Amino acid sequence: MNILLIGSGGREHALAWRLSQSPLCEKLFASPGNPGIAECAECVDVDPTDHEAVIAFCAAKHIEFVVVGPEAPLVDGLGDSLRAACIKVFGPNANAAVLEGSKGFVKDLCARENIPTAAYSRHTDKSAALADLPRFGLPVVIKADGLAAGKGVIIAETESEAREAIEHMFGGGFGDAGAEVVIEEFMTGEEVSFFAISDGQNVVPFGSAQDHKRVGDGDTGPNTGGMGAYSPAPVFTPELEADVMDRIIQPTVKAMARDRRPYSGVFFAGLMLTAQGPKLIEYNCRFGDPECQVLMMRFEGDLVELLIAAATEGGLAAAARPVLSDKYALTVVMAANGYPGTPEKGGAITIGNVGAARIFHAGTAMKGDQLVANGGRVLNVTATGASVTEAQAAAYTAVDAINFPTGFARRDIGWREIEREKSQS
Ligand code: AMP
Ligand code: GLY
Repeated sequence: MNILLIGSGGREHALAWRLSQSPLCEKLFASPGNPGIAECAECVDVDPTDHEAVIAFCAAKHIEFVVVGPEAPLVDGLGDSLRAACIKVFGPNANAAVLEGSKGFVKDLCARENIPTAAYSRHTDKSAALADLPRFGLPVVIKADGLAAGKGVIIAETESEAREAIEHMFGGGFGDAGAEVVIEEFMTGEEVSFFAISDGQNVVPFGSAQDHKRVGDGDTGPNTGGMGAYSPAPVFTPELEADVMDRIIQPTVKAMARDRRPYSGVFFAGLMLTAQGPKLIEYNCRFGDPECQVLMMRFEGDLVELLIAAATEGGLAAAARPVLSDKYALTVVMAANGYPGTPEKGGAITIGNVGAARIFHAGTAMKGDQLVANGGRVLNVTATGASVTEAQAAAYTAVDAINFPTGFARRDIGWREIEREKSQS
């Protein structure tokens, strides 16, 4: 069959790589794609906000299946429009993508279904929000309810910071996303990203990962979309996975189906491993970026078969459970100088001999014959090994074989796990 992949980042390059390997995939199109994706797909330019244009493109190219990488088109209802046109789609309808689109929605769902998460309150009125602050203690977490490009969460250490965050959100600091504000209890523990794939009724685990959100070594400096990741996350033991499937993921799938919002797609659950057990921080309705890159390195099955099963109501019941290899995968993000502020565009990149490492393109472009930086996160240098230590060594050997003078990378991706591996050896 012909398939269309929506998106242009490293996550989509990893998906394109696996989709194009499937014997079920006759031709893969990617919109807009990038120069890395162009090696395994035909890149086209279809505006994902113009649903009629996407449907017309699918008709013209005999596309039967659409895989949506980022969250915005899903929250915007692209899944609904494609389904209405009888085109299969991997990714939830808008009324289920609300799991990422509204933080307050998720908190209310958790409260109703007894899903472990931080205590919270929702507010559409600034004075009520300010009045409610004291009962949460400090630090306290203030969140814009809607999509805010990963920036709508403020951890306030002092009461005046918390008040400022509330003022900022209600003052339009995050646009419409801040019209409603969620106040949350601050949780402590180690964070893990966990993935599960659902067809609306059935749900299967799809592995864990940990990412590094801060820009600098030692987890310092401003937050980013993620400077590197590894999978699996050994702190997330099979027992914890079973517990999370039982107490968080399954109840969510059931509640969404019961409420006529069947969730078909991938659950990306941000979890906090607290002293009282795993708690949900948030849901995303897409694969993580760069978590997807390490998951795809470990995935051993046919990705088209799996994603089609998830896109078919009840389709996962008869499908094989996804298998991820026992290897560790680790990815290092090479970013353009200036990221996460204004990244320097146009810097030349030359990729040397990177051995068995795989280079996923995130923000790249071609300028004539020259590969150049064209975004904040530029390349994802990804390798595998029998331990995180081995995977890290292979990834940095490859990073050192890439000449990108106007870029940088963290040198310590995986540090927490590598320290644990050292202490166990
Ligand atoms: P979110 O966008 O909801 O994942 O939040 C971004 C980051 O803020 C998370 O990855 C956590 O590091 C942190 N965070 C969010 N909510 C909480 C919470 N209730 N307690 C502690 N940290 C949190
Ligand atoms: N790496 C975190 C995210 O994709 O949201």
